[in-house]
Amino acid sequence: MLVLGIESSCDETAAALVEDGRILRSNVIATSVAEQALYGGVVPEIASRRHIESISPTVQKALADAGVTLSGIDAVAVTFAPGLIGAVLVGVNFAKGLAYSANKPLVPVHHLRGHIAALYLTHPELEPPFLCLVASGGHSHIVKVEDYTHFAVLGRTVDDAAGEAFDKVARTLGLPYPGGPSVSKAAKEGDPHAYHLPTPHAPGPYDVSFSGLKTAVLNAVNQARMKGETIRVPDMAASFEEKVARILADKLLAAARDTGASTLCLAGGVAANRRLRSLVNEGAQKAGMRLFLPELALCGDNAAMIAAQGYYEYRAGHAAGLELNGLPTLPIDYDCAGSDA
Ligand code: KG4
Ligand code: ZN
Repeated sequence: MLVLGIESSCDETAAALVEDGRILRSNVIATSVAEQALYGGVVPEIASRRHIESISPTVQKALADAGVTLSGIDAVAVTFAPGLIGAVLVGVNFAKGLAYSANKPLVPVHHLRGHIAALYLTHPELEPPFLCLVASGGHSHIVKVEDYTHFAVLGRTVDDAAGEAFDKVARTLGLPYPGGPSVSKAAKEGDPHAYHLPTPHAPGPYDVSFSGLKTAVLNAVNQARMKGETIRVPDMAASFEEKVARILADKLLAAARDTGASTLCLAGGVAANRRLRSLVNEGAQKAGMRLFLPELALCGDNAAMIAAQGYYEYRAGHAAGLELNGLPTLPIDYDCAGSDA
């Protein structure tokens, strides 16, 4: 079954073709990140406008790269939640038009479920159940993936998402957007033990909190400024990255131990973080757990992951009609039967 995936929930306009949820046939991404970087973060209005301009050529290129026409696909899968609503709606409306005109099923896909499905493209042998840390610019969840379309959230951030914390700290340190890659790059030259940063308390055993950590970096920068001193940016970047990576890795490994999980995964933009990857790898090896990491190119937003998850949602009977609406927020464990989908 050949699924066309469409993604437009943030600043990437993406289209991809995936066969049977596992085989990548084409993967096209147009991003407005360079323009967003001028403003230090995503400006929703700009994102929506760029999606409108890019979506048609992006989908056409994905079809051409795979050597198929619209009549050769079996379904259109699209991110319908969560995300910047103006951005999400561009993809949803385009997908509706395509599905209607080509008389193909329309399959709504939850963005975070998509991030998890990126793992199926990288690892043909991976099958649920497994425990996954999904960390992006908008979310940080520890999720039990019970099967392809059933999820249980064991822990979550109580304030900022991990990626959002990277983005805000980058701004504080004068590093460019997106903050994850720029903090990580600066951290390579720094000492992760140079600055002592707090581990913010979170209520549940697998919950995380990053707001206090972000404020601690801001306070250190402001205090240094008032004293006429300077913060060594690589050292602060390394100390911050180390702290975030340890918090996330520790929580994931604790959740795995307590629930008896034998398979661990990372997903989402922050899964590209090399320190996080290596800490989770060390912990998983020590505990005798299997670890699956998405390839770097599929950690950030893309439509291949939406097509992959779309295949499994379709198989589970989760196709939608033309009344499908985009939603700015929606839990990953939403009830497919009872939702707008
Ligand atoms: O999943 P994603 O591409 O988009 C959302 O769904 O939000 O995640 C983007 C987030 C951004 O906050 C970005 O700074 C972060 O992922 N990110 C990273 C790295 N690469 C991207 N964070 C830490 N280390 C990285 N290498
Ligand atoms: Zn994402």
